[in-house]
Amino acid sequence: MKSLIKPLAVGSFTAPNNVWLAPMAGITDGPFRALCLRGGAGVVCAEMVSAHALHYENPRSLRMLSISEREKPVSMQIFGSDEQTIAEAARAAEARGADIIDINAGCPVKKINRAGAGCVLMKDPVHLGRLVAAAVKAVKVPVTLKTRISLKRGKLLGDEIAKIAESEGAAAVLMHARAAEDVHAGEPDLDALAKVCASVKIPVLGNGGIDGAAKAQQFFDAGCAGLLIGRAAVGNPYLFRDIAQELAGEKPQPLDNQRRTEIYLALIEENIAHYGEKIGVGRSKKTAGYWLRGFPNAAEVRGKFVRMEKLSDIKSLFSSLTF
Ligand SMILES: Cc1cc2nc3c(=O)[nH]c(=O)nc-3n(C[C@H](O)[C@H](O)[C@H](O)COP(=O)(O)O)c2cc1C
Repeated sequence: MKSLIKPLAVGSFTAPNNVWLAPMAGITDGPFRALCLRGGAGVVCAEMVSAHALHYENPRSLRMLSISEREKPVSMQIFGSDEQTIAEAARAAEARGADIIDINAGCPVKKINRAGAGCVLMKDPVHLGRLVAAAVKAVKVPVTLKTRISLKRGKLLGDEIAKIAESEGAAAVLMHARAAEDVHAGEPDLDALAKVCASVKIPVLGNGGIDGAAKAQQFFDAGCAGLLIGRAAVGNPYLFRDIAQELAGEKPQPLDNQRRTEIYLALIEENIAHYGEKIGVGRSKKTAGYWLRGFPNAAEVRGKFVRMEKLSDIKSLFSSLTF
């Protein structure tokens, strides 16, 4: 049997494997990216950064593109609406060590859409193609496009967009198999995804609701060359390894709840080392719901944790967990 999990050539870059971490603003920062690479992700995607903010050398945006070797291979995602700023932002990301530059054409957040970026770019595929071409021309590293199968449920657009992206030089398409109007809810539309996969020769990495080997298999059956995993990896960063093992016919040993919370505590400590105690604890709390679930006193511990500010308190709280 041919293995489904394997290295993936994306233009001039070959990823060690084809199961990647999806970009998630507020979550896929340096410490979490490094953790997911340890958990078997082939490539990790950074949080989206505004091309406009990079143009003005916004310090926070520049910091978001500061990466260390243990966070590689990394794809850096930019969002914007005009060719010049997209080209500049692509160059800035390349200069900071991106292995891949990704353009966001799938985000449904109003603030991003009002600036003409994210999923509204799908309304004008020709303009979107020009943005891809501008980034491709600006950098040596491969450029990918993350988009969606449609804006409205049932009205496929992803195939047309993928074809334009391919013709303008994109090295791969990262395709969220949900309509923009569904944001992140509901089942992925695998029939629509299959049509997208059949429409281009460049790799399509499918995304949406992948939480284990069975779902992963369905995405490969739809014709995907690779997968992007989002929320299911938050709180379970070794899911990449587990899926690879299960699809290879091996028996994975998923992290148990005790090990998951140990890893969470280590991540909280890393976040504190990275951002300082106040911000590090604050960022860690955002994902508490993902990490602290599935054991008897999880809800109670989560309730106490979100009111805490000091690592010492958090440590003693975590020692009271029962599994
Ligand atoms: C909190 C959160 C933040 C996200 N931020 C981004 C982002 O910055 N860029 C992007 O392309 N997608 C973003 N997404 C979408 C994910 O990349 C992914 O497409 C989506 O979560 C579906 O995958 P999943 O069902 O595996 O979670 C975000 C999703 C979530 C839940």
